[in-house]
Amino acid sequence: MNPDLNKLQPYPFEKLKALLGQVTPPKNLAHIALSIGEPKHTSPKIVVDTLNSNLDKLSNYPSTIGLPELRESIANWSTKRFNLDTNNSSPTNLSSKKIGLCPDSQVLPVNGTREALFSFTQAIIDRTSSPLVISPNPFYQIYEGAAYLAGAELLLLPCLEENNFIPDYENISEATWQACQLLFICTPSNPTGSVTSLSSLKTLIALSDKYNFVIASDECYSEIYCNEAQAPVGLLQACAELGRNDYKNCVVFHSLSKRSNLPGLRSGFVAGDAKILNKYLQYRTYHGCAMPIQHQVASIAAWNDEAHVIENRKIYQKKFQKVLEILEPSLDIKQTQASFYLWPKTPICDELFAQKLFEQQHVTVLPGSYLSRTVDDTNPGENRVRMALVAPEADCIEAAKRIRTFVEGL
Ligand SMILES: Cc1ncc(COP(=O)(O)O)c(C=O)c1O
Repeated sequence: MNPDLNKLQPYPFEKLKALLGQVTPPKNLAHIALSIGEPKHTSPKIVVDTLNSNLDKLSNYPSTIGLPELRESIANWSTKRFNLDTNNSSPTNLSSKKIGLCPDSQVLPVNGTREALFSFTQAIIDRTSSPLVISPNPFYQIYEGAAYLAGAELLLLPCLEENNFIPDYENISEATWQACQLLFICTPSNPTGSVTSLSSLKTLIALSDKYNFVIASDECYSEIYCNEAQAPVGLLQACAELGRNDYKNCVVFHSLSKRSNLPGLRSGFVAGDAKILNKYLQYRTYHGCAMPIQHQVASIAAWNDEAHVIENRKIYQKKFQKVLEILEPSLDIKQTQASFYLWPKTPICDELFAQKLFEQQHVTVLPGSYLSRTVDDTNPGENRVRMALVAPEADCIEAAKRIRTFVEGL
C-alpha cells in the first residue's frame, strides 16, 4: 500500500479517548463535552425546509461544477461579505475597476472544507520537485495528512501568544520560500481564534508573487466572531484591496458547517484563482465528489440568508461572556477574536489537566498538544487546552463552574 499512509497520525480524538479511558469519571455528574468542534445550535428552518422539498432531486446525478444558481449566490455572498466590489480603498492602487468574483470560473462548490482542503492539496502539489507545504502549528490535522499523501514535506510554524498566535513569516529563509508550493493559513484559527490581519495577508501575497506558491486560506470560522463591528477579514479581500481581480495563487475555503450550523449538509466552497480552480475542477471530476443537487439547493437558501447567522453569533457571544466571567478569575484565559474556541493556558501539563478534569468533574476538553507537533523540542499547544463552546448555554456555564472548582482545587 501507499507507504505515506504510515505517516498519518491518529486523530486528536483517538488520543483523547485513550487518555480518558485510563480514569473513571464521577457517576453523579452528567458528562459535558467541550472537546469536539461540532456546531450544536439548531440548523436554519429555511434550509431544512428547502432540503425536504427537493428530495425528488435524488433521482439525478449532480455535476461537479454545481448549479449556476449556487455559484451565483456564493459569488454574491463573498462579494458582499469581503467587500470585493468596493473598487479598492487602497491609496496605492488607483485602479477603478470592479473586482467581484466570477461565479463561472472563480467559485467551486465542495462537500465541506475538509475534503476540499485534502483534495486541493493533491491537485496542487508537483511531486517532481521536492515539494514543501507550510502550515501553522497548532493546526487542523487535515493539512498534515493532505501534505504527506501528496508526497510533500511539511514545515510547521509555531503560533505563539507573543505573536498573537500568528506564525512569524518574517524569519523564513529564502530557500524555504523557494521550496514552498503551498502555504496553509487558518483565519480565524482553529484552535487559537486569532485572525490574520489585512496587512499580513498582503505580505503573504507579495511573498507568493515572489516565490510562486499557492496560498490556501481556510476561513471556515469567518462568520463566528465576537464584535459585530469587526468581521474577520479574508484573503480575497486583501487581493481586492490590492486591485488583483485574478486572485493569482490565492484560494479561500468556506463552509456552511459553522456559519449555518449545517455540519451534516457537507457544503462549502472554494474560490479564487480561476486558473487553479479550472485544473482543480478537472481533478474533482475524477475524484467523484459532486454535491447532491438537493444539498446545493438547500445551500443556496443558506448563503442567501444572513439573519440566522447574526442570531447564531449572538448565542455564541452570550456563552463567551458568561463562561469568561466564571473562568477569568482562576485561569489564564482570554476572549478569542473569532471562532467558537477558547485556548487557555493550563496550570499543569495539558494532558494531565484534561485527564484529571474528566476524572473529577466529567468535563472533556482537548489537550493543546494533541493539536500540534513538537518541533525543535517545543510543542506550541503544550500547557493549553481547547474548549469549544458548542454545547447549550446552560451546559457551557455548568462546565465553566466545574472547571473553576477543579482549577481552584489543584
Ligand atoms: C480549521 C477547520 N477547517 C476545516 C474544517 C472542516 O469543516 P467542514 O468540512 O465541515 O467544512 C474544520 C472542522 O472542524 C476546521 O476546524
